[in-house]
Amino acid sequence: QATVADDLEKILVTKEQIDERLAGMAARISADYEGRDLLLVGVLKGAVMVMADLVRALDRHVEMDWMAVSSYGSGTKSSGVVRILKDLDKDISGLHVLVVEDIIDSGLTLSWLLANLRSRGPASIEVAALLRKPDAAKVDVDVRYVGFEIPDEFVVGYGLDYAERYRNLPFVGTLAPHVYR
Ligand code: PRP
Ligand code: MN
Ligand code: MG
Repeated sequence: QATVADDLEKILVTKEQIDERLAGMAARISADYEGRDLLLVGVLKGAVMVMADLVRALDRHVEMDWMAVSSYGSGTKSSGVVRILKDLDKDISGLHVLVVEDIIDSGLTLSWLLANLRSRGPASIEVAALLRKPDAAKVDVDVRYVGFEIPDEFVVGYGLDYAERYRNLPFVGTLAPHVYR
C-alpha cells in the first residue's frame, strides 16, 4: 500500500519550525495591535492551517472571517485575474484587518485581494504569510509578517495542495517527480 510519505521528496519546513515561527509572529502581532480590535481574514483553502495555529498562538481576542478566491486560467501558475467564490460575511470598513495566507508565490492573488479589500475602507490592512517565494518581489505588495522565505520549488503540505491533495501534511515539503507524471 503506497503512503503519502512515498510521494514526498524532502521536507522543507518542519512542524517544529512552523510552530516556533508562528509563535514569534503571534507575539509581534499581539504587540502591534495592542488596544485595537483585530479581524483576521483567511484565504481559503490554503490558509486554514496557518490560521488555526496562528490564532491559538495569539493570547488576545480576535475575530476570524474567510474569503475564497479563484484565479482564472489553468495550470499551476495564477493569472492575477481573480474571482470571488466566497466573500467575507461582514463589512470591514473601519476595522483593522490582517490577511492570513499560506504562501505568496507570484503575489498576484494577494495583490488583487488587497486592492479589493482596501476599497472597502478598513482602518488598516496588513498581511501575514507563512511562506514567500522569490517571485513575489516582482509584485509591489508589502507583507508585514513573513514566516519563511523559500526557494522557487513546488511545495505542498500545511494547507498547500497539489490537485487538492497533501493539504493535511503537518509540514511543508516537496513532491517526488513521479507524482507529477
Ligand atoms: C494558492 C496559495 C495562495 C496563492 C498564491 O492558492 O494558497 O493563495 O495560490 O499564489 P500567487 O501568489 O501566485 O497568486 P490556490 O489558488 O491554489 O487556492 P487554494 O488556497 O484553495 O489551494
Ligand atoms: Mn490559497
Ligand atoms: Mg492551491
